[in-house]
Amino acid sequence: MQTKAIILILPLFIMLGCSVNTGQTNKEIQSQVKKLLSEMTLEEKVGQMTQIDFSVIAAAEGQQTDDLIDQAKLEDALLTHHVGSILNAPSTPNNKAQPIATWRKIIQSVQAMAAKSRLKIPVIYGIDAIHGATYTQGSVLFPQAINMAATFNADLSFKEGEITARELRASGLQWNFSPVMDLGRQPLWPRLWETYGEDVHLATVLGTSYIKGHQGDDFSAPDKALTCLKHYVGYSFPINGKDRTPAWIGDRMLREYFLPTFEAGVKAGAPTVMVNSAEVDGIPGHANHHYLTTILRDEMGFKGFTVSDWEDIKRLYTRDKLAANEKEAVKIAVMAGIDMSMVPFDFSFYNLLIELVNSGDVPLSRIDEAVSRILTVKYRAGLFDPTAQVLPVEGNFARAEDIETNRQAARESIVLAKNANNILPLKKDANILVTGPTANLLSVLNGGWTITWQGDQESLYPQDKLTIFKALQKKSSGKVTYVGGNSFTDGIDSQKAVEEAQNHDVIVLCLGEKPYTETVGNIDSLNLDQTQIKLANAMIATGKPVILVTLGGRPRIITSIAEQAAGVILGFLPGMEGGEAIADILYGNYNPNGKLPISYPRNINDSVLYDHKPIESYEANAYHPLYPFGHGLSYTTFQTSGLTVEKDHIKMGENINISVNVKNMGSLTGKETVLVYLNDVAASVTRPNKQLKAFKKIELAPGQIENLSFTLTPYDLSFIGVDLKRIVEPGDFKVMVGNETVLFSLTKP
Ligand code: BGC
Repeated sequence: MQTKAIILILPLFIMLGCSVNTGQTNKEIQSQVKKLLSEMTLEEKVGQMTQIDFSVIAAAEGQQTDDLIDQAKLEDALLTHHVGSILNAPSTPNNKAQPIATWRKIIQSVQAMAAKSRLKIPVIYGIDAIHGATYTQGSVLFPQAINMAATFNADLSFKEGEITARELRASGLQWNFSPVMDLGRQPLWPRLWETYGEDVHLATVLGTSYIKGHQGDDFSAPDKALTCLKHYVGYSFPINGKDRTPAWIGDRMLREYFLPTFEAGVKAGAPTVMVNSAEVDGIPGHANHHYLTTILRDEMGFKGFTVSDWEDIKRLYTRDKLAANEKEAVKIAVMAGIDMSMVPFDFSFYNLLIELVNSGDVPLSRIDEAVSRILTVKYRAGLFDPTAQVLPVEGNFARAEDIETNRQAARESIVLAKNANNILPLKKDANILVTGPTANLLSVLNGGWTITWQGDQESLYPQDKLTIFKALQKKSSGKVTYVGGNSFTDGIDSQKAVEEAQNHDVIVLCLGEKPYTETVGNIDSLNLDQTQIKLANAMIATGKPVILVTLGGRPRIITSIAEQAAGVILGFLPGMEGGEAIADILYGNYNPNGKLPISYPRNINDSVLYDHKPIESYEANAYHPLYPFGHGLSYTTFQTSGLTVEKDHIKMGENINISVNVKNMGSLTGKETVLVYLNDVAASVTRPNKQLKAFKKIELAPGQIENLSFTLTPYDLSFIGVDLKRIVEPGDFKVMVGNETVLFSLTKP
């Protein structure tokens, strides 16, 4: 390492809160909040900080009402306990998607009760709508985030945000616990698929596009809704891979990998942040003052409010033993910077926090701060606006063009990983044997947070959507036969599949995972279960060409199967149109262009990621995944050439202009994503061998060539230095696109 001059990059953040909506200026909102706060009792204030689950206000089974609510319970929550927020789908008979009309009645009843309260403060209702309006029947359900990342298409993410917000507003809902800005750098983690993958830049671009589509310039607009960045921060990197277990993330790693996506989300205007349900470096997310206050508020300038995750304040006592009792847990969390508690089943938080303020253990100023933030968001959302209307359903829900956008997202999200001897696309009249546990279910295309929390209630799925098998059957002019039990537990009749294989030209073998999310999805190994491996081996042994199609939220190990299969399609969780999208790709109705947003491991302990350090590819170490980050084939081929950096000496502080040609070398029109990687050749902190800094996706006709330009900024050259500050050092940098590398030198100004 040479001695280098260092410049500090100014904090990324311009304070949030300058955007004004509902026709009111920030100043006006602030003075309304101040006035309202001055009229509130302690009980009313603490009520605003309390969020309860729908079950607390639910009518008992058998006493069903139109809105599924027990009015006495609602009155107790809103008028006696002054509750400011409710979440989740109706709990009776179980938490599942409801007709749009039911949702509208629920919200109407809740706000009508709130209007009876002394100060008439509306309720903010939160819902998990992570790939569309999960809990509204018939909504447009997109590919999950891991697939959206595979599209490398920011416009599609923007549109997903727009469509989700519109369908939520048509349902009367307004606050979405999405997007997940955690990075997917731990393949075992059962929520990997809720992330935009392993790369900081890709997750930043996709996540912020989603927020912008969802919120527009003014999230009080009738078709826009509030987002919530989650789960701040470090949740996604549990060392043992299990959900809600410890992460050990050093400050440098935190700042370099896990904070930037949240910083970008704050900058994009997300008004709420949900907190990490687990712990980092021995400190539970809900007790971490440094993260919640020093970094989030003082450094990032976040002005919105933070909400706890499910029951997590209680868990500081019941699970983490960080607090000696529940009361102490409430004090720790509130003083760390939590503004709203997702309690969610009782009023314990409310009662304990009132006691803590009365005893002087929590200062009233902290309560006022939290409540001001919550009220500000409620004003900004237009919740106090008496003229605000619920968006009409007509023309705003399950629109044909939105279903088409969803289908396009699904197509672009599927990765063709192997295509030996151009086995694909298949001929329309090919006789196809379809088998495997993911071949004929809709739930496996969608994953968790679909109709229900776990997404596993196949019987609740819409009848008009197509599984892989049904889509192939619909689009085929040959024979398409399905063999297999319909679930993972029934098993597959592999003997029958072997016999049937003889009467078919090709086998489409659909393997993968059943739906899950959170702790329910914990596993001890990325290996596939023996039943699937046995079926795969039996299919390969038939000698017929096997096309492996995988579905599921994690990269389960498929190495030996993939090596023997003629074709491999990685589907992950492509959503409600995923079956059709996969069939379209198999038949060549659509030319695939998805690229991997994660490194697909070759072996279970092979967890080296694409942006690894030099030491991870030194001597016996290697980055040797089955498929690398960014991998994805097309039915045509593209070539990049002529990579140039405008100047080979660049002064610190200047932008870097890059250009490259990309040509479609084949005979089919197709889309290609050009990825621009950077490497800082020598630095005072070891640098990744390459990091994605920019990308563009374009469509090219056969023979067409296009010149693409990219501009990197000084921020793109920066990293977290020895003293934990973001810096840029002069010296050599490599720009890499395709097979080309160009060097430039960064010099002192
Ligand atoms: C999950 C969050 C979710 C919340 C509300 C929690 O268990 O971790 O992602 O938003 O529940 O449903």
